[in-house]
Amino acid sequence: MGWRILKFIEHLFYRRHRHGRGIHSPYLFDLVHGAIFNAKRIAVPEGIRTIHHSLLKDPTLIPALSVGQESKVDRAGNRSVASFARGSSVSPKYGALLFRVSRWFQPEMVIELGTGLGISTLYLSAGSPGIPLHTLEGNPHRAEFSEKLIKRSGLKGVKVHRGAFEELLPELEHDLKGRYLAFMDGNHSYEPTLRYMRTLLGIAGEEALVILDDIHWSREMHRAWKEVCSWPETRVSVDLFHMGILLLRRDLQKARVKIKF
Ligand SMILES: C[S@@+](CC[C@H](N)C(=O)[O-])C[C@H]1O[C@@H](n2cnc3c(N)ncnc32)[C@H](O)[C@@H]1O
Repeated sequence: MGWRILKFIEHLFYRRHRHGRGIHSPYLFDLVHGAIFNAKRIAVPEGIRTIHHSLLKDPTLIPALSVGQESKVDRAGNRSVASFARGSSVSPKYGALLFRVSRWFQPEMVIELGTGLGISTLYLSAGSPGIPLHTLEGNPHRAEFSEKLIKRSGLKGVKVHRGAFEELLPELEHDLKGRYLAFMDGNHSYEPTLRYMRTLLGIAGEEALVILDDIHWSREMHRAWKEVCSWPETRVSVDLFHMGILLLRRDLQKARVKIKF
C-alpha cells in the first residue's frame, strides 16, 4: 500500500506530459485531447449514468467465488452490489473514460477480461453501440447479474462468456479477429497479465487498442506494465496511473507518455 502511494505521488509530480502537453504525434494528440481530456464535450448517455449510480446504492448480495487475483474484500464472502461497484468496478470518471476511448477508437469488436457486474461493459458498449462485445467472467453469479444489467440497459451485441479467461480465450480466438479494443480488468498479477497480453497480440490485425486496469496496483502489476510497454508491438503507451492504454499500430513511433488524469 505504502509503495502504491509512493508511485502515485511520483506520478503526480511527473510533469513532462502533465495534461497532455508536449505530445507531437497527431494520432496520439488526438487520443489525448479528443478522448482522454474531452469529458466536457462528450457526455456519457444519461441512461448509463443513472444505472451506474443506482448500483452504487444497491444492497443486493452476490456470492463471491475467488477467481484470479482479487481484492481481500472479495475473498471475504458474499458482497453487496454496492460494495463491489464501489470497490472493484470502474468509477463513473473511469467509466466515462472507457466510453470516450471506445467512441474515439470505433473498434470492430470489444473484448473485456473481467465483466464483474457489467458496469465497465456498459460504458464500452455505449461508446461503440451495436458492435460485438465479448466479455469474460469467471464468477457465474456476477455473470448472471451482468447479463440482466446489459438487458436492462437496452445495449445490443454484448455476449457474456462464463468461465476462466484461460479456457475461454483460446475458444474465442477465431471470433476475435479484426480491429479490436480490449479491456483487461481481472487477475491482476504478473504472469497471467503477460499471458493474456500475448494472446491479444496474437490476434491483433493492423491496429488494436488495449486498456489495462490497475497498472500500479501492486509491484507485480507495475512490472507487468513496464514489460508490455517495452515490447515492440506495443508502439504507444499512455500511463494514467489507474489505467494504461496501449496502441498497437505498426506505423506509430515508439512512445511512452505519462499523464495526470
Ligand atoms: C475488477 S473485477 C471487474 C470489474 C469490471 N470490469 C468493472 O469495472 O465493472 C474483475 C473480475 O474478473 C473476474 N476474474 C478474475 N480472474 C479471472 C479469471 N482468471 N477468469 C475469469 N474471470 C476472472 C473476477 O471474478 C471479477 O469479477
